[in-house]
Amino acid sequence: MAGLVPNARSRRIEESATLAITAKAAKMKQAGFDVVSLGAGEPDFPTPAPIAKAGVRAIEQGKTRYTAAPGVPELRAAGSAWLKATFDLAYTPDEVMVCAGAKAALHMALDAVVEPGDPVLILAPYWVSYPALVTMADGKPVVVPPVPDRGFVHDAAAIDAACKQHGAKGIVVNFPNNPSGAVPNREQVQAIVDVCRTNGMWIVSDEIYGTLLYDGARHVSPASLPGGRERTLVVNGFTKSHTLTGWRTSFLAGPRPVIDACCRIQSQVLGNPCTISQEAMLEACRTPLPDDQAKRMQAFGERRDFLVKEINTIPGLRLAAPRGAFYALVDARELCRKRGIDDVVLCEQLLDQQKLAAVPGSAFAIPGFVRLSYAASMDELKKAIDRLRKFVSAS
Ligand SMILES: Cc1ncc(COP(=O)(O)O)c(C=O)c1O
Repeated sequence: MAGLVPNARSRRIEESATLAITAKAAKMKQAGFDVVSLGAGEPDFPTPAPIAKAGVRAIEQGKTRYTAAPGVPELRAAGSAWLKATFDLAYTPDEVMVCAGAKAALHMALDAVVEPGDPVLILAPYWVSYPALVTMADGKPVVVPPVPDRGFVHDAAAIDAACKQHGAKGIVVNFPNNPSGAVPNREQVQAIVDVCRTNGMWIVSDEIYGTLLYDGARHVSPASLPGGRERTLVVNGFTKSHTLTGWRTSFLAGPRPVIDACCRIQSQVLGNPCTISQEAMLEACRTPLPDDQAKRMQAFGERRDFLVKEINTIPGLRLAAPRGAFYALVDARELCRKRGIDDVVLCEQLLDQQKLAAVPGSAFAIPGFVRLSYAASMDELKKAIDRLRKFVSAS
């Protein structure tokens, strides 16, 4: 043997583009540059005090030992009640497991349903990790091209055609969507469920932004609709809504046999999710914080409105108002065309010349677009807009 080498599968796994750009921006900051970093999807608000205190209490009370692999029974029950109250999803506690973040939940879910070689549809623009997660489960990611002219919500007929063309066995959906902010209505979600039902496909539904909504948009889970529950695995939690980013918590819910399989996988690869974090998540389920949530949503709403207003006055850029999550997916196709560059070069130039970190749409399979995260203070966003204007006017 010539030395230790990674296997073929791991070589197909790319580094997350969003983490890579955030790391580059952090390095530049460390080197003394005044970088505005809108690459990461991490709220700038702290974890709410009652939730953080529940974690501290857990340590003080010695709740620091192993728990059951799928989470403590109280939290599985609280998750079941929270999913019902918030999204009208009917799961027994046994059908809800606790995972170490939405990423881990998606990993367990895909590991439990993908057969080797299975084609799995991923709707573009997609969150960067889906193709890698499907690949790690030995599936074959099949990207369905984006539909910016339809508000980023695919026509069911296009999904049906992709399914038939590739013989897809399942689909990963993510609404509210990162990066587009798309939130389909009930009829549109039902149409996707119907396509999956007629084609015998499973659905992995990443609903981690399910409570981050604007303009009266409503989040509808495919699992809450006729024909949806029996074929869907739901991923949800408080990562984005309550800044539980570093706590690594989430719920995975679905039909009992698949959840049991996911619990077995988790018991082998992780054991239990962090015991202290489970106590914090229990607090998040049991004690709604309406004032805290209203304040966050008001701040996100103001930032969103600011970006929509400003960006649409910059020549060559356009932004349709996102209906959920906290990302602005800016259409920079005209600017790219004028400059003879692509979105990757555009983002490199923005970082090098204006010290503004943004993620190229290519990372989400939507070239010509650029994603700005507005999980950042208004001061940072104002700076970002100034820098964008300077960038566009200089040439
Ligand atoms: C759509 C989507 N799913 C999952 C995740 C990962 O969430 P977690 O930190 O809970 O693993 C993210 C984080 O950016 C995301 O945007």
